Amino acid sequence: MGSIGPDGGAVDPTPLFSKRVQQWEPGAIRSLLPLEALPGMISLVAGKPNPETFPFAKISISLKGSKEKQIVLEESALIDALQYGLPAGNAELIQWFEELQKTVHGIRCNDGWACCIGNGSQELIHRAFQVFTDPGDPILLETGVAGFLRADGHELIEVPSDADGLQPSVLEKILLEWPGKCRYPTVLYTTPTGSNPTGRSCTESCKAQILRLAKRFNFMILEDDAYYFLNFEVPSKRARSYLALEKEINGETGRVVRFDSLSKVVSSGMRLGVLTGPIPVVQKVTRITENINLQPSSTTQLLALSLFQHWGHSGFLKHCTRAAGLYRHRRDVFAAAAERHLKGKATWDVPRAGMFFWLTLRLPPGRDSFELLSKQGMENGILAIPGVAFMPNVQKTCQLRVSYSLVTEAEMGEACRRIAKLVDDAWTSEIH
Ligand SMILES: Cc1ncc(COP(=O)(O)O)c(C=O)c1O
Repeated sequence: MGSIGPDGGAVDPTPLFSKRVQQWEPGAIRSLLPLEALPGMISLVAGKPNPETFPFAKISISLKGSKEKQIVLEESALIDALQYGLPAGNAELIQWFEELQKTVHGIRCNDGWACCIGNGSQELIHRAFQVFTDPGDPILLETGVAGFLRADGHELIEVPSDADGLQPSVLEKILLEWPGKCRYPTVLYTTPTGSNPTGRSCTESCKAQILRLAKRFNFMILEDDAYYFLNFEVPSKRARSYLALEKEINGETGRVVRFDSLSKVVSSGMRLGVLTGPIPVVQKVTRITENINLQPSSTTQLLALSLFQHWGHSGFLKHCTRAAGLYRHRRDVFAAAAERHLKGKATWDVPRAGMFFWLTLRLPPGRDSFELLSKQGMENGILAIPGVAFMPNVQKTCQLRVSYSLVTEAEMGEACRRIAKLVDDAWTSEIH
């Protein structure tokens, strides 16, 4: 790390790249596809199907709330939507997101970053881990789903969070005490807004301290911000993203790779996510894509692009504000139900974003939420995710993640009542 970008502000992340990512060769066909657009070029390159064989005449989708407003893909847009496209994603959609990131995070276009699209942000997160880690390497991470990291045999070092999000002081201690002989971690993976599962959001002051640690100990921050647009705080109180803060805090850019998801605000089934990061990272992720699944879906990208062109950035952000309002209301109803039924039986922080409460149950010593949910939970008609599912090192806990995104308001009350009963029964069974 350390080479400086063209305007003196972007560090070069390539020295942190893994060995395995160097193995990926350019996809023979995909790397030639952009050249097809050159004027006068006759391309005999791709095994693209002839669109005459596609059975669709047009794709038309009506938007909610306005009877006349339809998204219609016809002729050339339809061919693009049904045909193979570029591995990094649809160029116009990428540009739309790059403009959005400039507006939302205040970043400048000459700081050596770019966006690429994936089939959901999870795919891009997985690829970014391939870029920075080899199997078995140590990874710093916030409590969360870590299945594919475990499967790669990584050493998972959990950095705990509290109501202010990831704890920089603990992270610093971990890094200061890192055994000198061992390879330092190259990445910190964190979900800073309405984290899954803890529902916690990281304050701007904690993010600033973590950014300083990233510079001091030379690691990348993988900022998985799937719930960024479901923030319940008034805009003036919201913490800016790592991406937004990096330059101000460290005087340079290049250590943040950010992931946004359309799943929580537009559609999860469309499978669209966005990576924003240093250009060499985008290039490596794209190279993996061109070798593995060729590209994100052209059809869903074109639908999203048509929608976004209709909305513009302001319309998209207004839509996100409305979605956040819906979840804020649900959060309030769940919080009231929890107060009514769970006081003294569990503790929790009221989430400032996202769709999860993280309950710590007051259970008799030795009991844990996995055992409780899998036996008594089933009998009492309550399903939730036990904390162990999110623990990097699979330790048992008294915690559980409950989602308030879908249940009715009446069900929220009943769910809290049933959880309270599980806790009561656990204590009763101790006595007998
Ligand atoms: C923190 C977090 N990141 C990423 C994802 C996956 O998002 P996508 O649907 O864009 O792959 C989820 C989905 O629940 C999530 O909670």
